[in-house]
Amino acid sequence: MIIPYGKQYLDETDIEAVVGVLKGNWLTQGPMVEAFETALAHYCGAKFAIAVSNGTVALHLACLAAGVGSGDEGITSPITFIASANCLVYAGAKPVFADIQSNTWNISPNEIEKQITSKTKVIIPVHFAGLPCDMTAIRNIADRHQLIVIEDACHALGARIGSQRIGGTDTADLVCFSFHPVKHITTGEGGAILTDNEEYANKIRMLRHHGITKDPAVLTRIDGPWYYEAHITGYNARLSDIQCAIGCSQLKKIDTFLLRRKEIAERYLRELKNMPGLSFQSVQPVFDHAYHLFVAHFDPARYDRLGMFEYLKKNGIAPQIHYVPAHHQPVMKKYAGKQGSLPNADHYYEGCISLPMFPSLTTDQQSKVIDTIKAYCHGSSIC
Ligand SMILES: Cc1ncc(COP(=O)(O)O)c(C=O)c1O
Repeated sequence: MIIPYGKQYLDETDIEAVVGVLKGNWLTQGPMVEAFETALAHYCGAKFAIAVSNGTVALHLACLAAGVGSGDEGITSPITFIASANCLVYAGAKPVFADIQSNTWNISPNEIEKQITSKTKVIIPVHFAGLPCDMTAIRNIADRHQLIVIEDACHALGARIGSQRIGGTDTADLVCFSFHPVKHITTGEGGAILTDNEEYANKIRMLRHHGITKDPAVLTRIDGPWYYEAHITGYNARLSDIQCAIGCSQLKKIDTFLLRRKEIAERYLRELKNMPGLSFQSVQPVFDHAYHLFVAHFDPARYDRLGMFEYLKKNGIAPQIHYVPAHHQPVMKKYAGKQGSLPNADHYYEGCISLPMFPSLTTDQQSKVIDTIKAYCHGSSIC
């Protein structure tokens, strides 16, 4: 069997949770949604969690709740999934990319500051691979320029800055998660927005459900108990009870998942760290890395990354590249075209490979990955 770079972990308790919903009365808009939201908010330490259809929708609705719109600019990382920038475009704003730090591969606060203009409305830092960004510095910049911070935490469920979990830190206004199968917990497809701000939470709940409200305080009239009004143009961005039941069941296992991910990362680091030309994310002690991904960077002057990628595949290992930089995507050219180069992001992209990282990766499978990398490096002509 091919060893993938990421994979969900589901057991009998997840299956039983789904069967329970299927035997009940509510497939959607029922009690499991609130149960999942409450569990998630509690786990992260946030006041409110709103479950939505996926992480991309979470980012989109967070932008709308923050009032991002036409004529605005939002600053995000070039080393991310394209959704971190697309959410700005959906809201009518322009994505601007700030280069990454060369050692953490997270967006650089100094580079963010250089990209701020009178049009900047929001900063969207991405906790790349599960390593938190320097949120103290980013919050500081946001406060000085009166900007909103939406954290793209799709890689970072369970990560911590000091004792605060991502999602419950006091440095972000809105925090977005994804529950795609390769993430820390899955609901098949799914996402959530966490916030301490009640106004944002209420707006996102309306946006998730067609802009509809039944709040007597804002209705223009009340015809009867059925009465509702649509006050904004919303969406159907709901997550079903079936998905939320899996989410509740998965969340009970999060600490075990995180521990296993950390164990795998520590072994990669132990066994590969002395290989010349290989580097890894630099992690300051204040950060607790959630290891959604484990990325090794092969110095392009020394290694043939394409050769390594193909060699791993030939040996039954399916690595991945995270990511083709967003500022090079043709769809982003009209926004990013005039920005000039982002040298750290470009250098990172030339050498990065994501190695298998998922809780059920066995010791033997990991040994195979490590041995295959070593064999390639020792046999490689430019090594
Ligand atoms: C950094 C980042 N942001 C956003 C998303 C979008 O999440 P989803 O796939 O749930 O829409 C992803 C998904 O992979 C991601 O990695």
